[in-house]
Amino acid sequence: MKSLLVLGSSNIDHIAQMAAFPQSGETLHGDHYHRAFGGKGANQAIAAARLGADVLMLTRVGNDIFADNTIENFRKNGIDTRYILKSPASSGVAPIFVDPESHNSIIIVKGANNLLSVEDIRAAADDIRRCKLIVLQLEIPTETVYAAVRFGADNGIPVLLNPAPAQPDLVLEKVKACEFIVPNETELSLLTDMPVDSEDDIKNAAAALRDAGVKNVIVTLGKRGALWLAQDGTEQHFPPVNVAARDTTGAGDAFIGCFATVYVKTGDIARAITAANHYAADSVTRLGTQTSYIDREAFTRIYPEFAQIGE
Ligand code: RIB
Repeated sequence: MKSLLVLGSSNIDHIAQMAAFPQSGETLHGDHYHRAFGGKGANQAIAAARLGADVLMLTRVGNDIFADNTIENFRKNGIDTRYILKSPASSGVAPIFVDPESHNSIIIVKGANNLLSVEDIRAAADDIRRCKLIVLQLEIPTETVYAAVRFGADNGIPVLLNPAPAQPDLVLEKVKACEFIVPNETELSLLTDMPVDSEDDIKNAAAALRDAGVKNVIVTLGKRGALWLAQDGTEQHFPPVNVAARDTTGAGDAFIGCFATVYVKTGDIARAITAANHYAADSVTRLGTQTSYIDREAFTRIYPEFAQIGE
């Protein structure tokens, strides 16, 4: 039985470290460059697979030099690749700049991700029905995201939407059936059209999402931890895990991959958020996205308190 469907993007990340970001018209020298597998969907799938989840991936790659390597990367990480589709387009790419304070700046060129369609969901329907959770982000067409939310609702499969990157035209009405919406502050503000300037603002905006019908709203707050609001009145703050950050790129994806894994294995939302907070914090101590995700054995060596999770 498949435990987790990740329906989303795959990119090739082109990561340059530099002293400062270039201004318009400026050319700067970078300090270091590397190319790596990325994309929010792919990152979340890889984090989940490394932590022991059984992952089915639905994504599209292009017809270029990146396609076969991307598929092989999924395969090497134990992910079911039957629904990784090749398209007459370029693969998704993401030039990423990282400065010495570990801030990043990302350009996403969607390429083949833009071709992931409602029909692709239909073609995989029988296998998706065997999943315990559907995980979505916003680097694919919005209509495909809406269709996946409807598919989950029609088939009794919980859906987790990570509304990233923030997208102004996302219609809340069409995603409110999600079991989980997991935004950061910017995404929360855009989704609710409410300010997030203070702790109270953030709680009010999260409550607005919950009141719209979303069963669980989990706001990732970076250095300030995470906040969970649920339909049953639960309101819980999870403190941050303090580490020396080198690169925060992909930390949100590490959080989602870990949360989804622990949730499908245990059904315990609070434990899943706690583990995800630790896993995301650990990821920022290393450079890159997938390159910063450790496996279950390494994670439980650092944090033995999670050894019983998701066996
Ligand atoms: O969340 C990080 C990811 O965002 C990168 O891997 C990049 O591909 C973009 O999708």
